[in-house]
Amino acid sequence: MDIFEIDRQYVANTYKRFPVELVRGKGSELFDASGKRYIDLGSGIAVNSFGASDEVWINAVTRQLSKLQHTSNLYYTDPCAILAKKLCERTGMKKVFFGNSGAEANEGAIKAARRYSVKKYGEGRNVIVTLKNSFHGRTLATLAATGQDGFHKDFGPFPEGFVYADANDFDSVRTLCEENQVCGVMMEPVQGEGGVCPLEKDFVQKVAAYCAENDILLIFDEVQTGNGRTGELYGYMHFGVTPDIFTTAKGLGGGLPIGAVLLGEKAENALEAGTHGSTFGGNPVCCAGAISILDRITPELLAEVREKGAYIVNELKEYPGVKSVSGMGLMLGVECEKPGIEIANACLEKGVLVLTAKTKVRILPALNIPWEFLREAIGILKECI
Ligand SMILES: Cc1ncc(COP(=O)(O)O)c(C=O)c1O
Repeated sequence: MDIFEIDRQYVANTYKRFPVELVRGKGSELFDASGKRYIDLGSGIAVNSFGASDEVWINAVTRQLSKLQHTSNLYYTDPCAILAKKLCERTGMKKVFFGNSGAEANEGAIKAARRYSVKKYGEGRNVIVTLKNSFHGRTLATLAATGQDGFHKDFGPFPEGFVYADANDFDSVRTLCEENQVCGVMMEPVQGEGGVCPLEKDFVQKVAAYCAENDILLIFDEVQTGNGRTGELYGYMHFGVTPDIFTTAKGLGGGLPIGAVLLGEKAENALEAGTHGSTFGGNPVCCAGAISILDRITPELLAEVREKGAYIVNELKEYPGVKSVSGMGLMLGVECEKPGIEIANACLEKGVLVLTAKTKVRILPALNIPWEFLREAIGILKECI
């Protein structure tokens, strides 16, 4: 049996994979089992922030791996404490809870918002407003938070306490807050899985002001938008607002699993010893890798992300066959006359990996993709469009 057959026979059938076995990579180049080269415009769905097998990251990870791979959260470790300090210093948040994935981080944020409210107002004020077309994860609570019916089908009953507002419609958020006992509003700065749709600045600012006036916690899901992806360290930074809580994962670890809940002043003590936890959360190897990523997300790198994003938009926005380009920085969605998946398949054939989101082609390259590869890949993408 070849690897495709073994996978199909033994791995749960939850993914629709492209027919490629990737075996190695360096930066933004990946190679399959036959030696064919691909330029990677997907970075493992916004995970490999500095591309494949990045030397700095490998050194940070292997150095820690050779010292101590895991301790449990009963003891202190240096990488976990230092990563939390760096995250707080760069965002103004006060404390960090570490988990292993985006969904787990969002679960932590939901728990923190509810507990903040219980401690201050008593039981009952527990509803979270999220947005239609959002995506917050695959666990039952984060599926319930996800404002897309398609993801809910066949998995009920769900945890209660989630209601869905229209994105970019402040009145819709306010009405739901007035009609329910709301403790938090949670949203993605750019709806990723929903089709790479950025929120409007005016909407985000109105929601932030309303939340502050009503002691409702403003929560950003930065699982995909975080860690430099949009051209700011975190996506909310484009909007001139400060969240009470935000979550991140994906690109923070650079390829190892990590999720983080960042808690601001209001929520920093919402979770106490024994109220939440995770066996692997704050794992020293993952945290050592994450430090090496965060340290390299400098103002210069962010400027480069914005410049490369603008280059892609300019190349594509008026190109024949393209209807629109959406997104921020190096998180872009391209609506074409052809379905996104058809273009992704054609790109694969010609040695470029792109993703899709709904009907769009989705582009999420490494933050440091070299210009020569970016130009080559966008040229091929244009041919396929
Ligand atoms: C905005 C957002 N939130 C949450 C998740 C879930 O993250 P994970 O798959 O790491 O649980 C994703 C994954 O795509 C995401 O894009």
